[in-house]
Amino acid sequence: MRAGRDLGALRRRRFVRICGPLERLDDAWMTARAIVDAAVEPSLAVIGDFVVPPAEGPPSRDFQTLHLDFGVPLAPARPMDVARFTALYISADTPRSVAVTRLVPLRSLLSARTWPCPDDLVRRFAEYGNSHGARDDAAGYVEGSLARIAEAALGGTPVLPSVKTHLGFRCGMEFASLAEELTFFARRDLRVDAVTTEVRLEPGELLVFDNLALAHGRRGVRRPGELHQRVFGHRALPVMQQLALRERLLAAFAP
Ligand SMILES: [Fe+2]
Repeated sequence: MRAGRDLGALRRRRFVRICGPLERLDDAWMTARAIVDAAVEPSLAVIGDFVVPPAEGPPSRDFQTLHLDFGVPLAPARPMDVARFTALYISADTPRSVAVTRLVPLRSLLSARTWPCPDDLVRRFAEYGNSHGARDDAAGYVEGSLARIAEAALGGTPVLPSVKTHLGFRCGMEFASLAEELTFFARRDLRVDAVTTEVRLEPGELLVFDNLALAHGRRGVRRPGELHQRVFGHRALPVMQQLALRERLLAAFAP
C-alpha cells in the first residue's frame, strides 16, 4: 500500500519524500530500493554511494549548482554509467539541517521558451561538446551541469568557461553564488525560481527522485557527513541505450 503510494508520487512529481523517520541507513536504502525497483524493470545497480560533504572535510559552500548526477550522455561514444534515480537520506541522529535540496523539473523549465528541433539540438550538443565538453573526447560528451546543457541548446557564443581550455576548472563551479546562477537562467528566459520545489530533509527522512527528469542542487550549507547519497542506475550502458535515454532529455525541450 505504502509502496504504491510512493510509486504514484514518484510517477506524478518525479520525486517522493519519505518522512519515516527511518532510523538506520540500511532502512533508508532498503526503502529507496523498493521504490526504485517498483518504478523500473529490470532492477538497477547501485552505481554510487557518497557522503556529502565528506565527514572528514570542511562544510559545503552555501549552494550547489543545478545538475544531473553522472550527467546526461549528450554525444555518447562508449559504454558509460548512467544514473536514473538518486536517493538522499539524513541520519535520524543528525542535528536539523539548514540546507534545502532544490528540485527543478526539466520539462516545466524548458517548455517556457522555444527550442530548435531535436536534430538541431543534437548538433548543438555535439558542437558544444567539441569546444566546452569532456577533456577526453574519446569518452564522448556527457554533461551534468544544467546551465551548460541550456547554453549548448541555445547555440551562440558560450559564456561559461570551457573545461578544455581552463585547466584546473572544476565542474559545478560555474557560478560564485546562487543569485548568479538564477540570473544566468533568467537572462535566457528560463525562470528557475518559478518551477523549483525546495525540500528540507529532516533527520531520518529520505528523498528519492528521477535524476533524468529533475535537475537538482542545494541552497544552504551542509555540515561534514550530513547527507548520505545513493545513486541507482545502469553500469557501462551501451551507446545505443544511452541514446535512448537522451531522448528523455530531448523530449523536455519539445513544445
Ligand atoms: Fe547531485
